[in-house]
Amino acid sequence: MSQFSLQHVVESQQFDRDLLELVFETTDMMKADLLGDRKLAKILDGRIMASLFYEPSTRTRFSFESAMKRLGGSVITTENAREFSSAAKGESLSDSTRIMNGYADVIVMRHNEAGSAARAAEISTIPIINAGDGAGQHPTQALLDIYTIADSFPEMKSLKIALVGDLRYGRTARSLSYLLTKYEDIELIFVAPSVCRMEGDIKKYLDKYQVPWREEDDLAEVIGEVDCIYMTRVQKERFHSAEDYQEAASKYILTPELVSLMKQESIIMHPLPRVDEIPAAIDSRPQARYFEQAQNGLYVRMALLYLLLQDR
Ligand code: CP
Repeated sequence: MSQFSLQHVVESQQFDRDLLELVFETTDMMKADLLGDRKLAKILDGRIMASLFYEPSTRTRFSFESAMKRLGGSVITTENAREFSSAAKGESLSDSTRIMNGYADVIVMRHNEAGSAARAAEISTIPIINAGDGAGQHPTQALLDIYTIADSFPEMKSLKIALVGDLRYGRTARSLSYLLTKYEDIELIFVAPSVCRMEGDIKKYLDKYQVPWREEDDLAEVIGEVDCIYMTRVQKERFHSAEDYQEAASKYILTPELVSLMKQESIIMHPLPRVDEIPAAIDSRPQARYFEQAQNGLYVRMALLYLLLQDR
């Protein structure tokens, strides 16, 4: 289908514009097929996806499993890899990866440690898809985020985007920041509690690629100037101090009053799950895109599975 090939999906930085274009063209094709004549319903017939989740998930796991089945493939899995795989008996990630290489054609892995997907990819003979590695990255989320932003802003340029909430432990905001450097004239505004501000590695990367960014404390001050506001949950499970968590929790809530300050054409996104940062009253606002965003995850993941497995 193309001269580009994907071996693993580990981090956002691995995608260049040509590869992004291929992923999104394939995503359009998957979406059209799923809503249309289902010519691709058996295209991954006979392939097996191992779904290895050491941390909880609703969207990523079920959308990957659904994607594989909707393309005619099958899924092997365990309810909770941390508890019910041999990791509970002390098996190393590299041994588990090596073993799963013999049982499946692709591994979708969510792990509690940053860098775990990269480590698995180093030794794996089959594609590894990083479905979230601790506070590291969540590259497939970033892909579906960009696909969703492009729904509203097809040119994907000259956009001001505010990332709000837990930017330190929130891997979705990290992966999205990396991926946005691939587009022209993007400006980022980070709005985070002082205990979970965006980390230096991302800021350095943005500087390297000349993507302007700034930090602000007051959401009300920036909300009227942005094209997209990307809310995130405070990642309670990753905080080392209860005091720090208390300081961050519920600090940024997108109230109806704040939404009324937004431009009509701007959009609200959230990787979900949400806690209290977007009240349900916002769901019916024309700017709300987070449920479409989650749905786009299915189409993007169908595209990735297809691209990774088509020639194997
Ligand atoms: N956005 C996301 O990763 O959601 P899940 O944790 O439910 O997979």
